[in-house]
Amino acid sequence: MRKEQFICPYEVYDNHDELEPQDADLLRKAHEATARSYAPYSKFHVGAAVRMANGEIVMGCNIENAAYPSGLCAERVALFAAQAKFPDVPVEAVAIVAHSKTKTLAEPAAPCGACRQVMLEAEQRSKRPLRVFCQGETGPVMAFDGIESLLPFVFQARLL
Ligand code: THU
Repeated sequence: MRKEQFICPYEVYDNHDELEPQDADLLRKAHEATARSYAPYSKFHVGAAVRMANGEIVMGCNIENAAYPSGLCAERVALFAAQAKFPDVPVEAVAIVAHSKTKTLAEPAAPCGACRQVMLEAEQRSKRPLRVFCQGETGPVMAFDGIESLLPFVFQARLL
């Protein structure tokens, strides 16, 4: 037996000014997208913005449903829309932010497992590391350079 460990590197930015201007812009678009969220059940308004290699930005938000599992997370809405619109263009970066109607969220909400799995496949399709930025309504920004640090031991399509 031997013990091993996974290292999950990420960056923390306390200030938007520390980000590259195009990443700060992407984050702003994600905040803007929370206004489009339909979240009457959770009151948790998530916004996402995806930057494609052609410079296009596609926004998404969570859309809930009275039949709860029929709703979809913001980052999957944005990523699926982006890939449907530009199927041959690599995805470069995604920003995900959350605003709660019940409190001021000052810490990032990391993406759910299903969204990480979807981000992984978008990354593999794009053949380049996907940058991921997360933030609450305020507070620090977490940045990941590639999905492996978000989803260790991911299910690999190559096993099929
Ligand atoms: N949600 C997202 O949009 N992204 C995530 O990664 C986690 C959760 C949404 C789903 C639901 O509408 C609300 O947040 C509360 O779970």
